[in-house]
Amino acid sequence: MAADFVIEGLKASIEGKEILKGINLKMKGGEIHAIMGPNGTGKSTLASALMGHPKYEVTEGTATLEGEDLLEMAVDERARAGLFLAMQYPSEISGVTNSDFLRSAINSRREEGSEISLIRFIRQMEAKMKELDMNPEFLHRYLNEGFSGGEKKRNEILQMMMLDPKIVILDEIDSGLDIDALKIVADGVNSMRSEDRGFLVITHYQRLLDYITPDYVHVMMQGRIVKSGGPELARRLEADGYEWIKEELGIEDETVGNEA
Ligand SMILES: Nc1ncnc2c1ncn2[C@@H]1O[C@H](COP(=O)(O)OP(=O)(O)OP(=O)(O)O)[C@@H](O)[C@H]1O
Ligand SMILES: [Mg+2]
Repeated sequence: MAADFVIEGLKASIEGKEILKGINLKMKGGEIHAIMGPNGTGKSTLASALMGHPKYEVTEGTATLEGEDLLEMAVDERARAGLFLAMQYPSEISGVTNSDFLRSAINSRREEGSEISLIRFIRQMEAKMKELDMNPEFLHRYLNEGFSGGEKKRNEILQMMMLDPKIVILDEIDSGLDIDALKIVADGVNSMRSEDRGFLVITHYQRLLDYITPDYVHVMMQGRIVKSGGPELARRLEADGYEWIKEELGIEDETVGNEA
């Protein structure tokens, strides 16, 4: 059951407003699942709730990774269990360098006494940065501070590569990337594909899925997955938009959280 990730009936609220209204999703190791959907339908909320963001209160349902209950765990425990989120809007942390941040993130996942050596860490980090075509000076910059949009996204992928997670959630990793950077980031993701790792890729655009081929595509509306299919579903959305799904399902307002 390598990297089996199961979400059942997940409901979550923010400030008393229900945003996730019962999410069901099963992922096996090796699989890539894409989540698409119009703005404001709950995609980022799903990512945040899974990661354990304190603002989102899970009111019902379960989420397990390799049979372990994620929802019971604190944020750092979820990370240690193998969950990784590349955020839509990564935060800037002044005073903490990129390398300090990553090294403590790696070491917090290791037993005391078996921390990664500085030399080994730097060597690994430099190799990954080269793969991502990042200037080595980013090692010493404060985390995300003053990074361009594309530099932030590349840095999220660097973290993913260094942390070697079991479940990777990428929230609009393609936003802000130029055409070459998109290719580099996709190569980074593809190089991490393996039987014991699963990916949940949130995106608005087929363009990303040209490079990162999903096994399944899910559409979110009104805080639920309303339709699932294969890669052809994403291509249909690119061509026809979302109106046909709304018509098919009798949905007028696809957003969530704005109900009277
Ligand atoms: N921290 C928050 N405070 C208040 N409202 C929130 C918060 N987080 C999410 N919401 C609301 O929940 C709804 C869903 O937001 P979410 O960010 O999950 O949408 P999304 O599907 O990721 O949209 P997009 O495609 O634009 O990124 C929105 O109406 C949003 O305003
Ligand atoms: Mg979002």
